[in-house]
Amino acid sequence: MARSQAPPNGPESDSEMSSTPAPNTEVLADRDPGAQLKAQRRILPEFGVAVGPIACLANERARLQTLQWEHFDVKPMGATIGAELSGVDLTVELADPVVAEIRQALHDYKVIFFRDQPLSGAQHVAFARRFGELEVHPFIPGNSAHPELVRFEKSADVGGYENGWHHDVTWREEPSMGAVLHAISVPPTGGDTLFSDQCAAYDALDAETKSLLEGLTASHDFMQAFGAQVPPDRRDTTRNQYPVVQHPVVCTHPATGRKHLYVNVFFTTQINGLDHDQGHDLLRRLAQQATTLEYQCRFHWEDHSVAFWDNRAVQHYANSDYWPDVRIMERASIKGSAPTF
Ligand code: SIN
Repeated sequence: MARSQAPPNGPESDSEMSSTPAPNTEVLADRDPGAQLKAQRRILPEFGVAVGPIACLANERARLQTLQWEHFDVKPMGATIGAELSGVDLTVELADPVVAEIRQALHDYKVIFFRDQPLSGAQHVAFARRFGELEVHPFIPGNSAHPELVRFEKSADVGGYENGWHHDVTWREEPSMGAVLHAISVPPTGGDTLFSDQCAAYDALDAETKSLLEGLTASHDFMQAFGAQVPPDRRDTTRNQYPVVQHPVVCTHPATGRKHLYVNVFFTTQINGLDHDQGHDLLRRLAQQATTLEYQCRFHWEDHSVAFWDNRAVQHYANSDYWPDVRIMERASIKGSAPTF
């Protein structure tokens, strides 16, 4: 095919080029725009987007970098959240000091990950039980041999709906303290899980919002996410069994003493004592904190990876980008205590 040629006096001809004004090479600023920010953030007015460093992460980030571990190696992931632990075999019965150190790592990093742990159902249950009694989830089917293991078995016929930020089971009076999730079969791409540090999410709030939240509670209800699972003839008994519960909006973590946000878009329905619109706006704003990338870490699964998260300190989000591929996971949830101010 003949190559097309520019017309003799077209835009690329010499005469046109010579009339184009020289580009303006003047630089008005003598320093990076970030030099005006340092530890503060700046709001871009059109969409209210805040840019700049999230300075409240610095102390915790520095603290985590100094930690030393005796029974395993640790590779931290996010600024204040997430670490991959290696050199520990979860398929065997672990010695008490190893379990104690895993618990400490969970409290420090808020979510910890292990690779290459081909756990049987019984081994999964046995490992999780070292950290407390296990729950049976009333609204998600479990592994038939081990009802304590919730089974997430996704395929072309079953969609992954866990792609909203949430803490697990906050509709319980005593929501789980943590969960151990084992990947049995993962899709060739996608299906990552993201975790968001809710201590950082609280720390990053301005002083006025923190003071507004003092003493506030929120209502949590299973209905929004799981109501459709309940047969019509079981609605009344299920409601009696799992009434709407109230938890503080800001809780104190029972092990670390740190404050963390405790509202989520799956189960929290309103902030109590505020009028409906004000409560909803505040709830949306607080829940939205989970989406800030600087508080997050993201885990890419392989078959037999394990994640163990502190269900008070983090929210999580299972990326639903792999349909119609198969993704099979099992989760053991460890009972917790009633959240407190
Ligand atoms: C969950 O929400 O507990 C499921 C997380 C996942 O499947 O990655």
